[in-house]
Formats: sequence, structure tokens, C-alpha cells
Amino acid sequence: MPGVVRLSFSIENPLMERLEQLVREGAYANRSEFIRDMIRERLVAKQWEHNEEVVGTITLVYNHHARGLTDKLTHTQHHHHKVVLASTHIHLDENLCAEIVVVKGRANQIQRLAGELKQQKGVLHATLSVSSTGKQLA
Ligand code: NI
Repeated sequence: MPGVVRLSFSIENPLMERLEQLVREGAYANRSEFIRDMIRERLVAKQWEHNEEVVGTITLVYNHHARGLTDKLTHTQHHHHKVVLASTHIHLDENLCAEIVVVKGRANQIQRLAGELKQQKGVLHATLSVSSTGKQLA
């Protein structure tokens, strides 16, 4: 395979057993796939730590009857329109809504937006899922 380097490394036996367990649990085809993924995870974490351009999703669960909340969430997203790529609203039941906001921008801008959405009174749960533009991961 072009561009592929084979390497060997030393590892203590208990740690090796844990590696094998992680490979099995993750349903990876082999150790190489697991290690490639681990490296990419570390690279993405570094992109976030170093405030690089990243991609993520913010998921919010809230009750739309909470006074003024829907307007506040929309207002906040408009304020950060340069970071918000798209948002999807799902009516979970008579009262509850989920909103998934897809974001791309500097890590600190995304974290600021996620924080502003999360702190709104009436938001029941909010998560920020961190990913990458994919650059420098191949
Ligand atoms: Ni709704």
C-alpha cells in the first residue's frame, strides 16, 4: 500500500491485554484501525484545545412552553450566524422539543455559543459534540 509505514512498538503485557479488549469492544477489524482512530481522536482534541477551525453539533432539549425560550434560542443563533451552518427542530411530544445545531468555526466561538444556549432558563439538557473539518486527519 503506498504511503503506509509499518511500525512496531513495545508495550507492557497488562496494557496490551487492555488494548486487545478495547479493539474487541470497539468492534475494530484490527489493532491498526484502532490506533489510527485513537490518533485522529487526539488530533481532533488538539484542534479544539488550540482554537482551530472545527465542526460540531449542539443538541438542546427544552420545553417550548418556557416563557420566551424559543425566541431567545433563535435570537442567540442569529447572533452567532457566522458559526451556525444549520439547525433542525424536532417536536418530541406535546411539550418537549429537541434542536440540533450544526456549527463550524473557531473552537472558542462554538463553545461560547453552546454555553449561551445551555444557560437559557428552561433548557433541560444540552450537549456539544466535538468533531473536525477533517483537514489533517488523513
Ligand atoms: Ni417543538
